[in-house]
Amino acid sequence: MPIDLRSDTVTRPSDAMRRAMAEAEVGDDVLDGDPTTGRLEARVAELLGHEAALFFPSGTQANQTGIGVSVARGEELVLEAGAHLLHYEMGALGALWGVQPRLVSAPDGILTGELVEGALRPASPHVPRLGGIAVENTHNSGGGTVTPVATMRGVRAVADRCGVPMHIDGARLWNAAVALRVEPAAVAGIGTTVMVSFSKGLGCPVGSCLAGSRDRMRAARVLRKRLGGGMRQSGVLTAACLYALDHVLPRLGDDHAAAQALAAELQQHPHLDARPPATNIVMIDLQRDTADTAIAKLAEAGVLVVPFGATRLRAVTHLDVTVEQAARAGAVIARTLA
Ligand SMILES: Cc1ncc(COP(=O)(O)O)c(C=O)c1O
Repeated sequence: MPIDLRSDTVTRPSDAMRRAMAEAEVGDDVLDGDPTTGRLEARVAELLGHEAALFFPSGTQANQTGIGVSVARGEELVLEAGAHLLHYEMGALGALWGVQPRLVSAPDGILTGELVEGALRPASPHVPRLGGIAVENTHNSGGGTVTPVATMRGVRAVADRCGVPMHIDGARLWNAAVALRVEPAAVAGIGTTVMVSFSKGLGCPVGSCLAGSRDRMRAARVLRKRLGGGMRQSGVLTAACLYALDHVLPRLGDDHAAAQALAAELQQHPHLDARPPATNIVMIDLQRDTADTAIAKLAEAGVLVVPFGATRLRAVTHLDVTVEQAARAGAVIARTLA
């Protein structure tokens, strides 16, 4: 079996998670509610420091609904230049909402209030109205980097000053909270809306939540239905998420230790450049191979990674990879690309 580090989405639900799914109490969540989904939404709202939460089949749908409830057609959304919302969601900002992205490049994807401020333009008859600001924490293409709480607050202060909402793409917000040693609400509560995923570090087969005010979540329920995201006996899915909050979230720091073990092996190799990871993502810059040739060689040697640029690889640690396996993968990568 290869060591699969392509993403933290490759995890398989454990036997215990599957049992929780099989035994879930369910109802029709589009008609009059599913009790297990209701329990998850209440728990997530509290955990994230918001009034209400709504369950979605994917992070993309929850992220886009977060934008759709806040930013109007023809308005600008300020976001970091490598944001998932822009690059990996099938052009949805434009295709669904007619929202114009305004990009700000930030070192390691860490957007600050000052950087956002620098991108703002005075109102004029030519310039679209600012409709919102989005922050990604942790930042995927930045290499799992963490935006500190004070920095997030700085961005929110700019949003407040401009009278616009701030959305957090928190697909890996759990990892950010672990790295910052704070409760999830300390990060998530800073946003006007926040998306969190269960299908990444938490090992669930499906699912994300969007959280925010009761009013915004009422509007989000309408958009979710319009996007085809109204689900019936969704308790079968949300039971896995409840299980993950109890049994998987507490061990998330192990993934960070595994990423560090992997990077430590690579750092001994002069032809590879891997920075110490902040969370569970290791970016590897190659000096000899292209990403495509390196990936083929590594697959042959039993380690799976993905390209993230012409000479950059991404390796992600997760629930199904131990610290020892991650270190072994690091040694294989170093040896194979020597
Ligand atoms: C930062 C970030 N946001 C959003 C998403 C979208 O989540 P999903 O794949 O569940 O649509 C991802 C997925 O990898 C992600 O990494």
